[in-house]
Amino acid sequence: MEDLVEKIHQLKRQRRAVILAHVYEPPEIQELADFTGDSFALSQQAAATDAQVIVFCGVRFMAETANILSPEKITLLPAADAGCQMFDDRLLAEVQRVRQAQPDACIVSYVNTPAAVKALSDICCTSANATEVIRSLPEDREIIFLPDGNLASYVKEQTARPIHCWSGGCPVHANLSLQELTAVRRMHPAAPVLMHPECRPELRQQADYIGGTMGIVRYAQQSAETEFIIATEQGVLYPLQERCPDKKFYLASPRMLCLNMKKTSLEKIYTALDTLEPRIIVPEKLRKQAAKSLHRMMEIKGR
Ligand code: 13P
Ligand code: SF4
Repeated sequence: MEDLVEKIHQLKRQRRAVILAHVYEPPEIQELADFTGDSFALSQQAAATDAQVIVFCGVRFMAETANILSPEKITLLPAADAGCQMFDDRLLAEVQRVRQAQPDACIVSYVNTPAAVKALSDICCTSANATEVIRSLPEDREIIFLPDGNLASYVKEQTARPIHCWSGGCPVHANLSLQELTAVRRMHPAAPVLMHPECRPELRQQADYIGGTMGIVRYAQQSAETEFIIATEQGVLYPLQERCPDKKFYLASPRMLCLNMKKTSLEKIYTALDTLEPRIIVPEKLRKQAAKSLHRMMEIKGR
């Protein structure tokens, strides 16, 4: 394995590549990466480098976002079949139908959607800035939030705005049960619960902190507490333990596992750098439309 890691580093230098890993990726992939973080911040970090090649260790929609922000760079997705269970192929057709039926509505799409959906949206948001994005919209605009119904209901609670919530959801978060969380809380009664807003509302009521993946990591780093219950995908335990070696973390459920996020391997990264495939190229017309929704989000203070 050490040999392979060394070969990847050599090839990375030759290719002038930057390796990005989402914090749900396996530990050895996060350890190898130049940048780790949440899905949108990684694309921004890659855009700010002068690398010629982006190797995105994550899922397809993330690599698409990287390509939208950095069209001049080659974007590689080593795990070519890494998709997302939050939506399927029907999402685009449904969004097209809504766009036609309600042309004046403001469609807010979670950054965790395909490029084609971003292109049909008015603005994007992340799990970290969703509330600010909604607050920035004119009071008289009808708001449709997609695809994650749990994140939508969270921002609706936070902003008290009349939001039409889509019914999609991330099964990794939405399937966390109250029984599982209650059992872990019983075992660790002093540990605050840090939860991703993709979890269901009745679970969120149990949380001491609600935020996106890096919000959870930062909260644990800055907190005076020494143990935490973590309600998001288990890959995040790696940065938590790295950054807080003296603190203890308990996963809310061993079922909080995204198999798509575990499809990247060192071998696939090496092959991607060697062959410069599989590439993610968002067609230019679509890219420009999707970029508008991302740039509108970036103009909002705090992102
Ligand atoms: P963030 O890292 O943006 O919070 O997204 C969570 C997620 O489910 C990514 O697949
Ligand atoms: Fe999709 Fe959920 Fe996996 Fe993220 S954790 S890639 S939203 S299924």
